[in-house]
Amino acid sequence: MSDVERTLSIIKPDAVERNLVEDIKKILIENNLIIKDSKKIQITKEEASEFYKVHQSKPFFNDLCSYLSSGPIVVLILEGANAVTAYRKLMGATNPKDADENTIRKLYGISIDKNSVHGSDSLKNAKSEIKFFFKN
Ligand code: CMP
Repeated sequence: MSDVERTLSIIKPDAVERNLVEDIKKILIENNLIIKDSKKIQITKEEASEFYKVHQSKPFFNDLCSYLSSGPIVVLILEGANAVTAYRKLMGATNPKDADENTIRKLYGISIDKNSVHGSDSLKNAKSEIKFFFKN
């Protein structure tokens, strides 16, 4: 069974800085994910802390929030069949060195921190993450 879902993608500062936005968008489209909305923004460290609050007890939380707010990012709403799972598969493992061949993180990720992209991990989180960046 396939359900049409929406998920949130973030193209992180390392990928924006290396001009990878169009390459990543092309991969998304080629894999049947429709880009419903997209915008380039820069967020504050406070906003990053709010976005990643599920990770607030983790040792990497402070670095993670500093990093996400360190430069421009592109946030995207993706839509497609089973989009949450489909996009997570296309991103690959969190650590690029563990990611499968031809996944976005394998192709472009530099390290576990600079792993080029974020994706919602569940439909529930997708809804709240989309609302976080696209309030209307
Ligand atoms: P992301 O999918 O954006 O969700 C949280 C981020 O924390 C993750 O990608 C990584 O970039 C970052 N991170 C840094 N260290 C770790 C770690 N040890 N385990 C998981 N995520 C980490």
